[in-house]
Amino acid sequence: MLNILVISDDARKVTALYKPGDVAVDAEDTGRPAAGGDLPAASGYDACVLDLDMDGWREKLDELRQQMPVIAFSMPDIKKAVEAMKAGACDYLEKPLTSESLAEVITRHKRELLTHKYGFDEITGTSVPMKEVFGLIKRAAASESNVLVTGESGTGKELVARAIHRWSPRSERSFMSINCGAIPDTLLESELFGFEKGSFTGANYTKKGLLEVASGGTVFLDEIGDVSPMFQIKVLRVLQEGEIMRVGGQRQIKVDVRVIAATNRDLKAACQRGAFREDLFYRLNVINIHMPPLRARMDDIPVLVRHFITKHAAKRKDMVVKGASTEAMRVLMRHDYPGNVRELENIIERAISFTNSPEILPSDLPASLRESAPTGFAPSPRLKDAMSSVERDTIVQALRESGGNISRAAASLGVYRQHLQRKIKTLGIAI
Ligand SMILES: Nc1ncnc2c1ncn2[C@@H]1O[C@H](COP(=O)(O)OP(=O)(O)OP(=O)(O)O)[C@@H](O)[C@H]1O
Ligand SMILES: [Mg+2]
Repeated sequence: MLNILVISDDARKVTALYKPGDVAVDAEDTGRPAAGGDLPAASGYDACVLDLDMDGWREKLDELRQQMPVIAFSMPDIKKAVEAMKAGACDYLEKPLTSESLAEVITRHKRELLTHKYGFDEITGTSVPMKEVFGLIKRAAASESNVLVTGESGTGKELVARAIHRWSPRSERSFMSINCGAIPDTLLESELFGFEKGSFTGANYTKKGLLEVASGGTVFLDEIGDVSPMFQIKVLRVLQEGEIMRVGGQRQIKVDVRVIAATNRDLKAACQRGAFREDLFYRLNVINIHMPPLRARMDDIPVLVRHFITKHAAKRKDMVVKGASTEAMRVLMRHDYPGNVRELENIIERAISFTNSPEILPSDLPASLRESAPTGFAPSPRLKDAMSSVERDTIVQALRESGGNISRAAASLGVYRQHLQRKIKTLGIAI
């Protein structure tokens, strides 16, 4: 499903050209000033169709192209078309627009619009482990099986769950997310299963639970590793029977939900300890998607940095932050990110608000990052020379004391004879 924003003085006419299907269109009719005169929140759209025959189109294009691909259109005008393409429009159409011409452009760009060049949906990454994750998401989306998404905190488990839903045949129905770790057991039960009027003090009305509301859609059970044994049995029953009973209720209610669960715990180990039910684990873990920690896919960092700069650049009204300097990227590449992608995103968001230049500089990054010793430390040539010279002096001294006896010299230096022989050779010491 593509969400497209149309901005035109005659937006309703353009909107009418879209045939109902897998494209949802919202329009800002600039002929009728929108309340507040502002754009609708642009973040929810996949692309924009922008009319160039209106005042201020340059500014609008500048603003929008940072957030989504912009398809420009206008009365036939080669100069304007070239100008718009140079300013970052991804395509150009001439008026009058027809259903065919619009559909053709959308189809042409659809793949790219949905599967962005550097990732899948909103999930950015070009590393081999992430490509595997993208493949698994597609497979999971095409099936009805339950999915268990595992991985450390901040690796993108929720993004994966949402992408599976968005690409599945259930995408038109709701995606309900519940953080099982954050809610006490009793509340969790009434949230998920609902309750009947009078079932407990304060239950003055009957309420449907998330599982009932989400019927036909997807339920995301986040932090499933944190729930009590009693609650595990209840979830298991839903998965086995496809039925729920409201708290205080008398009858079973059929629900049709697809469950995606996530955890940062090792559930297999929890099963072995007896802390998690094995039968529930196997029911949930039909498809497992493991999110690798960011330190295991450092080659994703440059594209993630670019992605987060684009995502958060709009927070600076006074200037456009366009990228990170080579030196800043180097600093970012040598951190090990215990907080994974979430930590990287916070660092970039903070840098955008701190920076005084259109490029993020090392000084915009947290001091702890700048100071951390680079991994893969390589001594400078000067240091190498100095170390060799100390080694040579020490070895020569030991050989002198042993009267040239390599075995004895090695023993006094605390190294193996072979090691000392190799050193003598590489350092060019004459015996
Ligand atoms: N590959 C990615 N591309 C773009 N953004 C990402 C990616 N991975 C994570 N993020 C961003 O990082 C943040 C954390 O992601 P998310 O909430 O999905 O992680 P999580 O694994 O569910 O973490 P937790 O276990 O703490 O709940 C979000 O803001 C998300 O948008
Ligand atoms: Mg999460």
